[in-house]
Amino acid sequence: MSSHPTHRPPTPANVEIPHDPGRLPMTLPLLAEKQRLGEPIVMVTAYDYPSARAAEAAGCDLVLVGDSAATTVLGYTATTPVRLEDMLVLAAAARRGLRTPLLIGDLPFGSYEISDEQAVTTAVRMVREAGCDAVKLEGGGPAPVSRARAIAGAGIPVMGHVGLTPQSSTALGGWKAQGRTARAAAQIGAQALALQDAGCFALVFEAIPAAVTEELVSRVEVPVIGIGAGPATDGQVLVFHDLLGIRDGLGPRFVKRYASLQQEMNAGVAAYAEDVRTRRYPGPEHVYKIDPAELEELRVLLTAADRSCS
Ligand code: KIV
Repeated sequence: MSSHPTHRPPTPANVEIPHDPGRLPMTLPLLAEKQRLGEPIVMVTAYDYPSARAAEAAGCDLVLVGDSAATTVLGYTATTPVRLEDMLVLAAAARRGLRTPLLIGDLPFGSYEISDEQAVTTAVRMVREAGCDAVKLEGGGPAPVSRARAIAGAGIPVMGHVGLTPQSSTALGGWKAQGRTARAAAQIGAQALALQDAGCFALVFEAIPAAVTEELVSRVEVPVIGIGAGPATDGQVLVFHDLLGIRDGLGPRFVKRYASLQQEMNAGVAAYAEDVRTRRYPGPEHVYKIDPAELEELRVLLTAADRSCS
């Protein structure tokens, strides 16, 4: 056996995910209990193993593999192009980085609109192939409510999403706040109640005036998680790339930025590129060694091989 240390990359099987050993895995009854106790529910998006590990280490309650992956990690300008197959790969990677948060997989555009049967089939794939605990769908009209009812009826926990629903942003007039007239706000309230009635275990309120949220949440029994919906909700969700500054530009006004990782990544890769160009990398500490006697023998072998070729 070689005396040289083996270079084995860390894998999910041999890497310890930093976590609080005392923390219980999140369940729907635990979530309802948090809401009852008035403890803020923390939700964040994740799209892969490292982002999921960060959510786990922070003790987040809910992790959403959002279809925002289309823009954050796949480089599209809208959420509609992301495919179910993409979401399954991303959600399975996030699953491998999680122990305790409830993992929710977003149903992408085109994977649930056609029929209740299509919605249940897609939800089953998210659970069985990616290991999601629950799924989320957008919209509160008759069709999404029917899909939510069918998924819940199949025994899969389902989360609703009202207000700004990016999959239908064109119909909503763009990426802008919703519910800014009394009638529109009342309609969001009616949609929230219909989704709750259909069996949703929780709801996302996105881009809704804070005062409207305040009026509506007291009428909803299930936990409401807000994004750009003010402080009155039971919890908050932000997109991983927005809160860590892994994007160009500032993003929507509701985003609070906790780091500037895109700048750090750019600076790190630029420093590496500069090191390679100026031959500062690799240094002596980055190279593997060989026994001098073995090296000498190699030279003899190579010289003999050179001679036999000429
Ligand atoms: O796709 C997503 O990231 C979402 C959140 C913004 C709630 O739906």
